[in-house]
Amino acid sequence: MRTPFLLVTRSCKAIHRLQQSAFVSPVSALYRHQTISVLRNSSTVSCEDDRSYYITTPIFYVNASPHLGHLYSAVIADCLHRYKLLQGFNSKFATGTDEHGLKIQQAAEAAGKDPLTFCTDVSERFKHLFNSCNISYTDYIRTTEQRHHQAVKHFWSVLWNKGLIYKGSYEGWYSTQDESFLTALQVGDAVDSSGNEIKVSLESGHKVEWMKEENYMFRLSAFRSQLLDWLKGNPRAIQPELFYQVVLKWLQEDLPDLSVSRQRSRLQWGIPVPGDAEQTIYVWLDALVNYLTVAGYPDKHNQLWNVAHHIVGKDILKFHAVYWPAFLLGAGLPLPQTIYVHSHWTVGGKKMSKSLGNVVDPLERSKQFTTDGMRYFLLRQGVPDSDSDYTDDKAFKLLNAELADSLGGLLNRCTAPALNPAQVYTAFCPQSFPSEQGGRAVGEDYHMLEAVKNLPAVVEQHYESMHVYKALEAISACVRQTNGFVQRHAPWKLERSDITDQRWLDTIIHVSLECLRIYGTLLQPVVPEISDKLLSRLGVQPDERGLADVNFLPKIRGMDCPFEGRVLGSDTGVLFTRLENLDIDKQNRKKTKKAKK
Ligand code: MSP
Repeated sequence: MRTPFLLVTRSCKAIHRLQQSAFVSPVSALYRHQTISVLRNSSTVSCEDDRSYYITTPIFYVNASPHLGHLYSAVIADCLHRYKLLQGFNSKFATGTDEHGLKIQQAAEAAGKDPLTFCTDVSERFKHLFNSCNISYTDYIRTTEQRHHQAVKHFWSVLWNKGLIYKGSYEGWYSTQDESFLTALQVGDAVDSSGNEIKVSLESGHKVEWMKEENYMFRLSAFRSQLLDWLKGNPRAIQPELFYQVVLKWLQEDLPDLSVSRQRSRLQWGIPVPGDAEQTIYVWLDALVNYLTVAGYPDKHNQLWNVAHHIVGKDILKFHAVYWPAFLLGAGLPLPQTIYVHSHWTVGGKKMSKSLGNVVDPLERSKQFTTDGMRYFLLRQGVPDSDSDYTDDKAFKLLNAELADSLGGLLNRCTAPALNPAQVYTAFCPQSFPSEQGGRAVGEDYHMLEAVKNLPAVVEQHYESMHVYKALEAISACVRQTNGFVQRHAPWKLERSDITDQRWLDTIIHVSLECLRIYGTLLQPVVPEISDKLLSRLGVQPDERGLADVNFLPKIRGMDCPFEGRVLGSDTGVLFTRLENLDIDKQNRKKTKKAKK
């Protein structure tokens, strides 16, 4: 049962008032958060009068060129952004680059460039990749921008003024590669490539070093129970569930205060601590604030900030699900609505790394597989809950089977001049395909219609929970069923001079075109170019492609179909050209060997 609109509106106003109210202490912030969450739960979770949506990717480190994993984070966010637009939301989508910190400082030094020039070069490479892959961001943030410096300094000052930052000293392990502080339990022994014994982070495998420094500490420990309460009151705040449980477990352990600055003498490439030029703000505090900067912080930011959703890889979960909410609670700001976590891509079962020579270049692959091919593969094979292994062969086989043969083949059949000489959205004949059995359609055909009718709801549910692979699996199963329908009735064998056969033929094509229209509409967030080509060929206008317009096969319910009788759009070639078996894996292995030599 839906909550009456009046109650929803009142609750939304109450949530908004609470979110706007001035922050007093961590305790009142907790109360406020709990109240908001109670109101949210009592008002069908989200405010129905609020059609804003804000989605972010992590901002990418510029110490190296983009790889497949980076594109994956961006494609997931892009898919959700496009999906929200199709639902009629006013969606904003931010991505960008994380340009400060020791790691970047060292990479610039190694490249013999001044840090800003170095950052600009690599940031442009990310931008180029995203533009090439149709990542439709609405804001591209760089942490070296003035607007971001202002936001970070303001945020720091708010925490400082509330007494949540104090001068202290840190002694412990630090991983420059992860820009992360580690406890003794998170560190293990290893041997580097030259045979030296080193200490590494057990989680990332990256080298750690002992450091002892005077710096500023954030009272993270004060927020442990508030974070637990937040999560317990919002079980869908971190998805999938597996990662929610991981965070709950972390919060049951000790949560020491966090060092949030480095000595300027060690780290020059960063934002100085306001009022203390000897210290530089910790790169993760700096980086996380990017989400607020884009929302307009410290000026008018509520509209976006109240509806923020983050996409993050599993390796940066703690920063987003523990440190970030604690900083936000401290600053008296609402917490993100959802943190969607994804797992990683491996190659040959191993982490991608330059030293192993197994880094997959997403730009090169999207040239081989096309942009949509690359997007489809990543989202169809990428599983949020567990790592996925990349091989070119897998991509090649999947794309040929599902995009070229199955979907492309279906469109070809329904639009081929041999079967559809008038090139129209043919008429549906209710006598041939009545709403109940009795015409020429058989039981399996009705099962197919049922599956396609339910498909939009199934797909939406999977998009909402970031299980895009499940949405694509469901679409792909329906495409197979529709191909089976056409195959079963072999319209090419029908006798066209017979009026009843001709009507049945038109009906088969009408039903198949209706199925294709649903598939094209639902696939837009994943493969925007292919969907556009498909829908244009069917004659579906841009303003008829929203999720509210799906209305599958109205004729079978005795209603008008706005597409029936329309002339099809022009033929602009095959939907997805079959990829030749280039034996890509072998070629790439050869290339890697050559590069190593
Ligand atoms: N700069 C930080 C994020 C700061 S956000 C305030 C960072 N950058 S990163 O470039 O290292 O990673 C960016 C994203 O790429 C993360 O979500 C990370 O999980 C993702 N990936 C990096 N390698 C990956 C794979 N091999 N597979 C899938 N995604 C992976 O962390």
